[in-house]
Amino acid sequence: MGLTALLIGDVVAGSGLRSVLSLLPSLRERYAPDLLIVNAENAADGTGTSARQAGELLDAGVDVLTGGNHSLKRRDFHAVLRDDPRVLRPANLPGSGLPGGGLAVVDTRAGPAAVINIQGSVFMEAAAPPFAIIDELVDLAHRDARWVFVDHHAEATSEKVALGRYLDGRVTAVVGTHTHIQTADARVFAGGTAYMTDLGMSGPHDSVIGVRSDIIVNRFRNGAKGRFEPADGELLVQGAVVRCGDDGRAVSIEAISVAP
Ligand SMILES: [Fe+2]
Repeated sequence: MGLTALLIGDVVAGSGLRSVLSLLPSLRERYAPDLLIVNAENAADGTGTSARQAGELLDAGVDVLTGGNHSLKRRDFHAVLRDDPRVLRPANLPGSGLPGGGLAVVDTRAGPAAVINIQGSVFMEAAAPPFAIIDELVDLAHRDARWVFVDHHAEATSEKVALGRYLDGRVTAVVGTHTHIQTADARVFAGGTAYMTDLGMSGPHDSVIGVRSDIIVNRFRNGAKGRFEPADGELLVQGAVVRCGDDGRAVSIEAISVAP
């Protein structure tokens, strides 16, 4: 029987959110996922998630929402993180007394599945390197679930691959988020862990990682501090489908990139 998981990469802006919501019925029909994980940390105009957006995704059947370095940007989202165990932020976000956590266990048709959300520490601020706390999180996850999925929200390719290799054979999948560029390295490692350095971005692709290109180019050329605005133009929903066996290991991982 096994389990099929659909993982959607960083939702950027309202246009990205609407694209995901409009494509979910056809993606469900095509892949029949038992578990749907969406990284929504950039849904609110590129930084953070609003409570309303989280509600829309969960109402649409998303099982777990993951986040990243912008997870705490919007105050209204703090209550969602505190109150809804399906909504995660990286376990190692810097700060103390933060709302929410980085591990969720949800029921699926196949049985309980766990999702871990953790942040990188290379070129990013983290309370602790992911390698310092991941073992404890994986052990906790396995108390309740056979299938364990890790969303590693990180900047550096090397750190992402290293964490994937470190967890090979111990979790079902390690997928990266945050860089918004889908990588062409989806594969199942020898120990049975599916891996992909970055799921990609669900949002406007005629852009610099979702933001209007002219604003970012001007920032690099002239140091201009223009307000980030989401781009218009071509929309794509990106992510991956992971098929797994009853033993908790991945059988396959397939990148997806679909226009609404
Ligand atoms: Fe991020």
